Amino acid sequence: MVLITLEGIDGSGKSTLFAALQRDLADLSPVFTREPGATWIGDQVRRAIAEEVDPVTEALLFAADHAAHLDAVIRPALAEGKIVISDRYTDSRYAYQWATLEGVLPDPLAWLRQVHAGWTVPPDHTLLLVLPVEVALSRKKHAGKREHFEEAALLERVQEHYLRLAGEEPYRFMVVDAEIGEEELASFAEGVVRDWCGSSRSRHRR
Ligand code: TYD
Repeated sequence: MVLITLEGIDGSGKSTLFAALQRDLADLSPVFTREPGATWIGDQVRRAIAEEVDPVTEALLFAADHAAHLDAVIRPALAEGKIVISDRYTDSRYAYQWATLEGVLPDPLAWLRQVHAGWTVPPDHTLLLVLPVEVALSRKKHAGKREHFEEAALLERVQEHYLRLAGEEPYRFMVVDAEIGEEELASFAEGVVRDWCGSSRSRHRR
């Protein structure tokens, strides 16, 4: 059992990579899941994002979604010995809500960690996609109405937070340049995930 998470700012190509891993790692039968939205609480989170509720409410809804996600998906899958790959997880809260709670709470990261303490399941490994914010936003340009997270200044802060989190736990994070080509990124990520799972890629090469 191993818990792997994918993280990165909006427009980092995380969802495309997630789809590629679903295709390329099928032989390992991982459980693919996501935050927010793996349970009905995720619908309430999306409503809160759309209605731009106050940042503490929003943070607690993301945390509630995480608790339900652990209960419904993560813990049962790990108990069955499965590999679990989640598109966003706790580090999304630590990076994004650290930014949205700056100026609202004296120490947002400490507060967020306290909110998760005692019940969350820390990831074993995390793939963090990094790229210039302007490139990420240009990828989002034609994708309809922007969520309030998709603003350059906020995403700069979020990405700084991600990199600080990665700096604190270098053994957990693999930081990847998200500007390399889609297929190159998918192939690299596949290799990294197989290493983490103790599965050799050569046997499974397409
Ligand atoms: P999502 O629709 O999954 O966006 P993406 O496709 O970029 O992953 O997530 C919606 C937004 O919610 C996204 O901007 C990131 C943000 N978010 C947080 O702010 N905190 C969190 O804990 C999570 C899971 C997501």
